[in-house]
Amino acid sequence: MSPVHAACALLFAAPLMVLGVPPIWTQPEQVHLSYGGVPGTMVVTWTTFNETESKVEYSLLGARLFEMSAIGHATLFVDSGTEKRKMFIHRVTLGDLKPAASYVYHCGSEEGWSDVFFFTALNDSTTSSPRFAFYGDLGNENPQSLARLQKETQLGMYDVILHIGDFAYDMHEDNARIGDEFMRQIESIAAYVPYMTCPGNHEATYNFSNYRNRFSMPGQTESLWYSWNLGSAHIISISTEVYFYLDFGQDLLFKQYEWLEKDLEEANKPENRAVRPWIITMGHRPMYCSDDDQDDCTTFESYVRLGRNDTKPPAPGLEDLFYRYGVDVELWAHEHTYERLWPVYGDKAFNGSREQPYVNPKAPVHIITGSAGCREKTDKFNPNPKEWSAFRSTDYGYSRMQVVNGTHLYMEQVSDDQNGKVIDSIWVVKEKHGFSAWVQSHHFVHTGDLSSSEEKVRRGIWHLFPRVNKVPSLGTNAEICYTSQRCTLSVEERGSIFLSSCGCSCWQHSSS
Ligand SMILES: *[C@@H]1O[C@H](CO)[C@@H](O)[C@H](O)[C@H]1NC(C)=O
Ligand SMILES: *[C@@H]1O[C@H](CO)[C@@H](O)[C@H](O)[C@H]1NC(C)=O
Ligand SMILES: *[C@@H]1O[C@H](CO)[C@@H](O)[C@H](O)[C@H]1NC(C)=O
Ligand SMILES: *[C@@H]1O[C@H](CO)[C@@H](O)[C@H](O)[C@H]1NC(C)=O
Ligand SMILES: *[C@@H]1O[C@H](CO)[C@@H](O)[C@H](O)[C@H]1NC(C)=O
Ligand SMILES: *[C@@H]1O[C@H](CO)[C@@H](O)[C@H](O)[C@H]1NC(C)=O
Ligand SMILES: [Fe+2]
Repeated sequence: MSPVHAACALLFAAPLMVLGVPPIWTQPEQVHLSYGGVPGTMVVTWTTFNETESKVEYSLLGARLFEMSAIGHATLFVDSGTEKRKMFIHRVTLGDLKPAASYVYHCGSEEGWSDVFFFTALNDSTTSSPRFAFYGDLGNENPQSLARLQKETQLGMYDVILHIGDFAYDMHEDNARIGDEFMRQIESIAAYVPYMTCPGNHEATYNFSNYRNRFSMPGQTESLWYSWNLGSAHIISISTEVYFYLDFGQDLLFKQYEWLEKDLEEANKPENRAVRPWIITMGHRPMYCSDDDQDDCTTFESYVRLGRNDTKPPAPGLEDLFYRYGVDVELWAHEHTYERLWPVYGDKAFNGSREQPYVNPKAPVHIITGSAGCREKTDKFNPNPKEWSAFRSTDYGYSRMQVVNGTHLYMEQVSDDQNGKVIDSIWVVKEKHGFSAWVQSHHFVHTGDLSSSEEKVRRGIWHLFPRVNKVPSLGTNAEICYTSQRCTLSVEERGSIFLSSCGCSCWQHSSS
């Protein structure tokens, strides 16, 4: 090193030595919100590259600025790329927020503060009518819908945003710098409304570590699966990826299923379903779709829908579970298109009626919305969709939903290609929720009695699925069990549920 260079180096080094850590690494960035799952809470999450305190200063809009503060904690996230980049993810839960009141906040520490943002605490009344934007598959490159979403969010059009998997493309790339860049891109949305997520296949690298570390969803599952309530809805977020990445732990699949069953059971308790009649699920990979790729949803034997039989024990799919517990609406992404389905179960459409398919539908309503915009562009449709496909679009865009009240739910699709035009909309109207809402109008045909080998499943068994088309028995206290032509009832008991080898299942009649 020449003396001149040495002198320069000394000059540059001097201020750093005075300040200790250059403040750029203690500067908060990538600020985003999520709902804490408990009324009156909001979680603020952000990143710094050096360790600092985790503090949010906030106040009611119009009150003395930053008169309240809350402290949280930071966790060190070391990316698994070659550089092993380190970042600190800060999480602070704000509590005792007034329902529907607006707050201003900034976050950071005495070593650096974020910009000032604002949010409106969720209205925890079960009669409120929350408005959502939802989509999947939004990337760092070609995020076509982002500008429109930024403006609409800042205008206050949404209470919550649901990002149904596949972020950034991909967060781990360039030693997780793509993840940083993406989280900065969505700050303009996610720092203003709770940004609720589920994992997609693009998060899989290093066992979903970028996803698990960067988001802060309710529950103790590192944001993989959880549920929460808003207005008259119970919203369940799942990882469909547990069906595909068995190497990361097959137990995750079974754990999630077990949790789902418990959660659905709880949500279906009469006192719960009475105040929150809507059960809405979100998961990345759909059970059905009519795209022309070879994705899971294009096959009749979809893993997500029917489960897998190449695991030990066989892994149950989600369609029967969701059907059995009367899930009303299922939101999906992954296909880079928009598709609305007629109410569907068992690969068949079950309209409420021909004139009004979504008024008292006889099966769950599925929406697939994965065209927000990413470097993979949009997908193409198969020219011959099945009978359950109701509306399709390959435009870039995203979806909106309002859970208006206990009987009315509205959804629409925005085309970004057509400057924000609403290209599709439906009202789902349900006077009745839960499993029994499906059963009402299915026509049962009495075709004979159960054979003696089937006798043992008769007792306490109530009803089976419309997938099957033969009704062997209609008992005195409405004990019905179907068998399908494809299967003989070889029945296995699992708790109160009976599973047959072909996927028929029965369950105990809950006496009322
Ligand atoms: C601060 O972060 C930078 C960038 O990650 C790192 O190079 C530096 O060692 C850190 N300093 C401290 C004191 O942790
Ligand atoms: C919350 O929503 C309910 C039902 O729409 C409404 O009556 C109430 O005024 C809202 N609360 C606030 C604080 O705005
Ligand atoms: C992947 O992450 C999940 C969630 O933290 C964990 O339960 C599982 O053991 C991990 N799998 C591997 C192979 O590390
Ligand atoms: C297992 O599942 C595959 C497709 O998922 C299906 O083709 C096959 O028939 C099933 N095997 C059995 C024994 O059920
Ligand atoms: C469901 O309703 C739509 C709209 O009326 C109709 O086009 C479709 O054929 C119906 N499907 C079935 C299976 O009834
Ligand atoms: C629910 O909302 C719909 C649509 O706005 C409305 O027609 C209906 O009267 C509402 N029901 C109740 C009980 O408020
Ligand atoms: Fe995907």
